[in-house]
Formats: sequence, C-alpha cells, structure tokens
Amino acid sequence: MPKDENFLKANNARHLWHPMTHPADHHKNPPTIVIAAEGVRITDIDGHQVVDGVGGLWNVNLGYSCQPVKDAITAQLDTLPYYSIFRGTSNDKVIELAEELKDFFAEDGLSRAFYTSGGGDSVETALRLARQYHKIKGEPGRVKFLSLKKGYHGTHFGGASVNGNANFRTMYEPLLPGCFHLTAPYPYRNPFGETDPAKLAQLILAELEDEIAFQGASTIAAFIMEPILGAGGVIPPHESFMPGVAEICRKNGILLIADEVITAFGRTGAWSGSRLWGVKPDFMATAKAITNGYFPFGALMIADHVAEVFEKDETGRAAIGHGYTYSGHPVGAAAALACLAETRRLNVADNAAARGKELHEGLLALQAKYDAIGDVRGGHGLMLALELVSDRATKAAPDKAVAAKIQTAAYQAGAMIRVSGPNIILSPPLILSSADAQVILSALDAGFRAL
Ligand SMILES: Cc1ncc(COP(=O)(O)O)c(C=O)c1O
Repeated sequence: MPKDENFLKANNARHLWHPMTHPADHHKNPPTIVIAAEGVRITDIDGHQVVDGVGGLWNVNLGYSCQPVKDAITAQLDTLPYYSIFRGTSNDKVIELAEELKDFFAEDGLSRAFYTSGGGDSVETALRLARQYHKIKGEPGRVKFLSLKKGYHGTHFGGASVNGNANFRTMYEPLLPGCFHLTAPYPYRNPFGETDPAKLAQLILAELEDEIAFQGASTIAAFIMEPILGAGGVIPPHESFMPGVAEICRKNGILLIADEVITAFGRTGAWSGSRLWGVKPDFMATAKAITNGYFPFGALMIADHVAEVFEKDETGRAAIGHGYTYSGHPVGAAAALACLAETRRLNVADNAAARGKELHEGLLALQAKYDAIGDVRGGHGLMLALELVSDRATKAAPDKAVAAKIQTAAYQAGAMIRVSGPNIILSPPLILSSADAQVILSALDAGFRAL
C-alpha cells in the first residue's frame, strides 16, 4: 500500500538522514518530495510540475523518459540480475560495454575500463591505481596528490583529501597526508586579484611548477582536476589551463587524472571535458550520466600507455587489490550500453552546446537586471552558475535566506534550481528544448523579482 501524502510529509527525515544536510534541517525546512518525472519535468507530492534545472544531480542527461535505458535494465534483470567480475568470472554486458567505451573515448586516448558504483569510487580507483602505476615502474616514492581548491571529487577519504572545499573536509579531518591544493582558476575571486582568465591560468601554472619543485617531482603520483569545476560553483578555466597542467605533469612524470564524473558524455558541449580542452589524460573518472542516473554505476577509463605498464608487468606488482562488489554490475552495464547508444543517437553534446549558449545569454541578461547577481559562469554547455552577492562592489556574500527565497519563487514559477552556498547552479538534462530553457530563465526572473 503506498503511504499517503500526510504520512510522507509528516515523517520525512524523522528516520532518515539526508546527504549534505544538517540532520535537523529537514525538520525545520521540509524538502520537496518528488514522486514522478517525465521528459525534463519532475512532479512533487502536491502535483506541482516543473522543469528540472538540476538534471537530477548532473546525471539525468537524457531526461526521465528514456525508454531504451529502462528496457535494457528490465531485460537484464530478467536475464542476469547480478554476477561478480572479480578474478575468474565475467559477464557478457561488461565485456560489450568495455568495447563501446573504448570507441567512445578513443579520441581521448583511453582504452581500458575499470567499473565502479559511482563517481566517488571512480576517483578512489584512479588515486589508488596512480600510486600503483608508479610502484610497478619502480618509483614507489611517488605517493602525493595535487589538486585544485574548489575542486570536487566526492566524499570518500581519498576524494575528500583532494577535495578543495572546506565544508567536505574540516569535520572529517585528518584526511590523507600528502595532498596539496593549488589556487582555483576562478577569476571572480582569487588571491592574486587577477580578473583576466588567461593571466590567472598562467599564474596558477607557475604556482604548479613551484609546488612541484618544492615537493620534488619524484614524490608526486598524480594531479587530479575537473575540466570544468562543477560542484565548487561551475568554474570554467581558461582554455590554456588544462593543456598547461597536462604539459607540466607530463614533463614531471606526474599522472593527470581528469575527474569527468560530470563532464563526460556531452555536458560541456564536447563528448568529454578533456576533449573540450584538447587534453589526453592518463585516467578519466566517469559515472553519473553513464547510466543516465537510472542505475548507480561508473567507469574509470585508463590510457593505453598506463594500461601497458600494468599489463606488461611480470613482477606481480600489477595485481589489482582494489574493486567493489558492484564493479561490473550487469544491470548497470546494460543500462550504460543503452545510454551510450541514445547519447550518440540524439547527439546530446550539440544540443548541450546550443541550449547552454542560450541559457548563458539569458543569465547575463538577468545580471544586467538584478544587482544581486555578482558573477555569471557558463559558456560551455549545460553547466552554469550565478554567484549571488549582497553588494557588487565588495562582493560580500548575501544572507542564506536570499538564495532560498529565489529558489522557492523559481520553483513556484516552474523550475527546480540548485542552491549551493552563494551559487545558483544549473545542470539540466541535455535533451532540454529551447522552450524549456526559457521556462528556467523566466522562473529565475520570478525568483529575483521576489527578493
Ligand atoms: C566531479 C565529481 N567527482 C566525483 C563526484 C562524486 O560522485 P558520487 O557522488 O557518485 O560518488 C562528483 C559528484 O557530484 C563530482 O561532481
């Protein structure tokens, strides 16, 4: 028997803790209870339907009615709902998927997949395999990790250690030793006071060289970064930045891990964020849109030359002592196969680029209209943000209630938007139509009018 509405509203959060939330918060501020979805729209328990400007959580790229993915999941559950791929066994779907992923990421130079249950697992796998790579090569002293402030890499201890946002770190310290953070490529606020993105990129690249010289290249395993920083507030670096990082890493024998949990599969308007910037990473962490969010799944993609070091090892050091019960889940793999086919068939990267441009222009128009918008970030597909300020001159952050008020009014006016600190973040499904984009913009307009 489905629980009635009153029961759900009355009991929400009494016996569950929400991620990324104070456990008492949902008692005071009851969450929106979403009970259905179709296309790019979600419906709440009161029957209110809105365009999902959040795309689930940057993952429902193909929207909520992607029948081929649903069919693939159902068929796989009927045929083989689970089997492990730990040593000695495999299943047909993971083998097929590895072939598809190899083709999909051929241009990025990535040809092997290690399956995971999500983004945090993909990051963790990358960090661990990066250390192992150096040990196989006879450089066991390469154990440190470099990353960017404001970068987000999930909340496992490894991911949190390279994470660049204090709110995911402080309460969980001490984290992994040997993790060092560089300035974020964030022209709106940075310690250099540099507003020019190209100049800022050069300053951070110089900082990277300085840090490597200080630590000693022979102590560093890998550098991890998102091609466009997502959860930290949608920060697209200058186009020279990631290629510059790649070059410095290569020169110093440091592996480059592209965390593409958000950016892989078209969100930036290119098929991967690395491809957007013309970079070939050594590892690429993927998850989220790989199954359109319909099944928890991920894949760490591995570059040919890194794979060869593992595969040619004869010492035994390359034996992988890492993996998850759900690494290579056949239902996830079946979902991913269908998802990749739909992603290609619908050419969602092109639509992401076009709709992203439209939303970016719309957000800039809103900035011209409302002083509360300090910074607009976007211009690369469907990941955009507005940074709210209480005063444009001082860039002081507004009271928390301001963003909440905008969010509520926007929701009433037809769009779900995400608030993260002073930022309003947009990451809608990549199948968004122009009309849907306009709904998001007009809902935001209503949100700011309500202030
Ligand atoms: C760039 C990036 N890396 C890692 C993660 C962690 O993924 P998950 O929440 O699936 O563990 C996220 C999640 O948003 C992410 O955006």
